[in-house]
Amino acid sequence: MHCPSLVTAGVLPFCSLVSIVFAVAPQAIPFSSNSYGPDGPWHAITIGVGTPSQSLDLLPGGSWSSDVLAPSVCVDATACTIAKLAGFYNASASSTNVQIGQTGNIRNSSFESTVGGLPSLTGSADWMFETAALKVQDGVSGQTTDVNLSDFDMLVMSEASETLPDGTTYPVQIGSLSLGAPQFNQSWTRSPPNPRFNGTFLPADLFAQGRVPSNSYGLHIGSTAMRIPGSLNIGGFDQSRALGQVSSQAYLENHLPIDLLDIGIGVAEGGSPFNFTSKAGLLAAGNSTLSPSMSVFIEAPLPYIYLPQSTCDAITQYLPVSYQAKYGLYFWDTGAAEYQRIVSSPSFLSFTFRLNSNINQNFTINVPFALLNLTLTGPIVDRSIQYLPLRPTAGPSGKYVLGRAFLQAAFIGVNWQSASNDGSGAWFLAQAPGPNTQTQNEATTIQPSDATIVGSANSWTDTWKGAWTVLSETGSGNTSTGDTATTTSGSSTSPPTPKPPPKGISPGGIAGTAVGGVAVISASLLGVLFLYRRSRAAGKPEPGSQEERIIQTPLTDFGVEPRRESDGYGSELGTGHEPMRESGGYGSSELGTGHEPQRPVEISGGVYRPKELDDTGYIPQSPVEMAG
Ligand SMILES: *[C@@H]1O[C@H](CO)[C@@H](O)[C@H](O)[C@H]1NC(C)=O
Ligand SMILES: *[C@@H]1O[C@H](CO)[C@@H](O)[C@H](O)[C@H]1NC(C)=O
Ligand SMILES: *[C@@H]1O[C@H](CO)[C@@H](O)[C@H](O)[C@H]1NC(C)=O
Ligand SMILES: *[C@@H]1O[C@H](CO)[C@@H](O)[C@H](O)[C@H]1NC(C)=O
Ligand SMILES: *[C@@H]1O[C@H](CO)[C@@H](O)[C@H](O)[C@H]1NC(C)=O
Ligand SMILES: *[C@@H]1O[C@H](CO)[C@@H](O)[C@H](O)[C@H]1NC(C)=O
Ligand SMILES: *[C@@H]1O[C@H](CO)[C@@H](O)[C@H](O)[C@H]1NC(C)=O
Ligand SMILES: *[C@@H]1O[C@H](CO)[C@@H](O)[C@H](O)[C@H]1NC(C)=O
Ligand SMILES: *[C@@H]1O[C@H](CO)[C@@H](O)[C@H](O)[C@H]1NC(C)=O
Ligand SMILES: *[C@@H]1O[C@H](CO)[C@@H](O)[C@H](O)[C@H]1NC(C)=O
Repeated sequence: MHCPSLVTAGVLPFCSLVSIVFAVAPQAIPFSSNSYGPDGPWHAITIGVGTPSQSLDLLPGGSWSSDVLAPSVCVDATACTIAKLAGFYNASASSTNVQIGQTGNIRNSSFESTVGGLPSLTGSADWMFETAALKVQDGVSGQTTDVNLSDFDMLVMSEASETLPDGTTYPVQIGSLSLGAPQFNQSWTRSPPNPRFNGTFLPADLFAQGRVPSNSYGLHIGSTAMRIPGSLNIGGFDQSRALGQVSSQAYLENHLPIDLLDIGIGVAEGGSPFNFTSKAGLLAAGNSTLSPSMSVFIEAPLPYIYLPQSTCDAITQYLPVSYQAKYGLYFWDTGAAEYQRIVSSPSFLSFTFRLNSNINQNFTINVPFALLNLTLTGPIVDRSIQYLPLRPTAGPSGKYVLGRAFLQAAFIGVNWQSASNDGSGAWFLAQAPGPNTQTQNEATTIQPSDATIVGSANSWTDTWKGAWTVLSETGSGNTSTGDTATTTSGSSTSPPTPKPPPKGISPGGIAGTAVGGVAVISASLLGVLFLYRRSRAAGKPEPGSQEERIIQTPLTDFGVEPRRESDGYGSELGTGHEPMRESGGYGSSELGTGHEPQRPVEISGGVYRPKELDDTGYIPQSPVEMAG
């Protein structure tokens, strides 16, 4: 038993006192040596699920449940070469599989409503809870150990396919490893028996085990093709993966939103492969509704960059690509001389965002075209095709999305915080480096109360040295790197960044492992502090945005509410064929509207009510959209 650092809020002063004697460091999660398409290739992480353990490779990113594939998703074995390599989870082969009726299920409908993992899929899936194990490394030179997660929260897909714009479908190829949620656990009322059943998430569980300093993570997925290794830390982040300004903003319950101000094209050094040195104004080109900004979601589980048609038109007019309506994507004209020049040069697509939700500040993430030379393979296409991962439609949520393709060049992190009520949480976005990056650095701790983190002052251009071909200023040849003047790019540059703080444990980072009886008492007290209720609700419109289907935890009396028929154990044994209702979801009807933000339920006396949980609730509100 440990005294988790969530006590540093001063809730349990005696525990805080004890905890400062000990310290835990962020834990790095090693990446698999395999990478996966069919639209990448992408780096993956290996996790063992069930007893005996079944090894699966999953793509890291997303919130709430992790999505895993049951063998039945691949009735057509020829369409499943990737899925077979990544691995399936066979629930009947595990002795530790747990299912409860209260979760409901998905039958022949969109996964968008689950908000976990993979919203673009359609099919059938069930929530299951498992014993899981994965490797963590305690620092660069630290030991690699297997950690065990219990009641690991999974959406197991028995049937799931992606649908192309022309209506053809192909089976899902690989699942996703969730990196947490605004709630500590995914908690379902169980009746009988009480208490609530809790599904757990990777960062929260490691935090609860006292293995990491906070319920947080830092991720750079990197690039397989450009040999940028992935970086994932729990309870901290690798500073060298977050260059310059790190923007911090509020998360939504199911999404990571940020205002996109502009898109441009630029060249980091040397001559330009285009007949201009830079372009700005591409986001709102020919579409003033996109000015002065557009709120986008950053979503690792989605592969592409989803932007309005007008923006895609503005970008692609300069590129040797052709739009393929069947796939809703652009294929590179690999025979064109400009293709070679563009994707091998220091040219990039720049994305300028609002910095720290501040109306007067911005920062820019450059995505080199080298990272936008991705490969489509089977089962989407018959032979490998180089494509530009731009899709001229909104994502499954109805919002425009910067997905995995964008995240090759961007660092994201989240400090979920809410478990400790140190604050309402924050998520982070910054420029990530290129291939000239140390594979792994000593991670920097994210404290439970941290609302901001500090990146490194490394030069982004330096991280691409050697990986791109600098063109001569005349544009007719090329030069070696370093002897050319840097071309001004269309994007604003970040202000000078602060020097990274010294590595090591800062005073606030001391937490965690505690001793004996005190810790046990503390942990059990903590256990009753937060009584979360999670159930299905639907259709809370975000301010200023399209209606978004979400899952929420309404305020409800604890434990004793009457059960709907389908909430009891009956439903897990039943046909399970009830289609998901368009609104209301499942399990929410007994709770009225289900639209209130979640709050912990106060139980017996002596339990404090955190101040964040007042009338306004503590779910961060979505930023107000600036666009007229
Ligand atoms: C799943 O596991 C069960 C029990 O071990 C086994 O009988 C079945 O063949 C497995 N299914 C697949 C597709 O491997
Ligand atoms: C799934 O739903 C679609 C319509 O939404 C229907 O055409 C199809 O037959 C259903 N498939 C199954 C297996 O129920
Ligand atoms: C995880 O579980 C395995 C198998 O039950 C066990 O051998 C191992 O020691 C456990 N690891 C930790 C860190 O508890
Ligand atoms: C212009 O932008 C709006 C979003 O503000 C979008 O719905 C619309 O499709 C865009 N128009 C074109 C032609 O892309
Ligand atoms: C620049 O190149 C584009 C095609 O990439 C062409 O349409 C345009 O006319 C060129 N502009 C100039 C000034 O050469
Ligand atoms: C585009 O990507 C493919 C696959 O990674 C690679 O083989 C090819 O060399 C790349 N093209 C250029 C011009 O770098
Ligand atoms: C970003 O900020 C700079 C400096 O304040 C400003 O000049 C520039 O116009 C801004 N860019 C956008 C797209 O708002
Ligand atoms: C760039 O330089 C390299 C060697 O320095 C050469 O092999 C290549 O052909 C040059 N590319 C162009 C477009 O001149
Ligand atoms: C999370 O779930 C675990 C396991 O059920 C439980 O022990 C713990 O108290 C829960 N934590 C919170 C904050 O709800
Ligand atoms: C689940 O977590 C809640 C606190 O959020 C706790 O009251 C309950 O006992 C936990 N359930 C189990 C089975 O540990």
